[in-house]
Amino acid sequence: MSAAGEAPSPARQGELLALLRHDCGSCHGLTLRGGLGPPLLPSALSGKDPQGLAAAILHGRPGTAMPPWSRFLSEDEAAWLAHRLLEGVPDER
Ligand code: HEC
Repeated sequence: MSAAGEAPSPARQGELLALLRHDCGSCHGLTLRGGLGPPLLPSALSGKDPQGLAAAILHGRPGTAMPPWSRFLSEDEAAWLAHRLLEGVPDER
């Protein structure tokens, strides 16, 4: 696997972005500015290791409200999402 992983298919990318808004957004805020969970904006994540973020997505953060998503996401998909978060996901308007 390359550092950034295999990019998901365009259709799967759409599903992943919908998951990000709806499921992740319930804790991290619809626009990812934070809520129960911390903000996931590039400004908040800047300098963080994409692999560490992908690991948090896949395995959750034990002892916190952050749940594991490995039942729903592959490693490559979690890595793809981590890179989207670091770059900034455009708001849906
Ligand atoms: C039930 C609430 C909840 C949901 C749903 C949730 N998170 Fe989290 N998330 C958290 C909390 C709380 C933390 C902070 C954990 C900690 O203190 O380390 C966190 C941390 C993270 C981090 C690490 C941020 C950092 O700065 O290190 C990432 C990345 C992340 N979440 C992504 C996601 C993604 C992507 C989804 C959806 C697939 C998601 N989260 C869904 C509550 C949630």
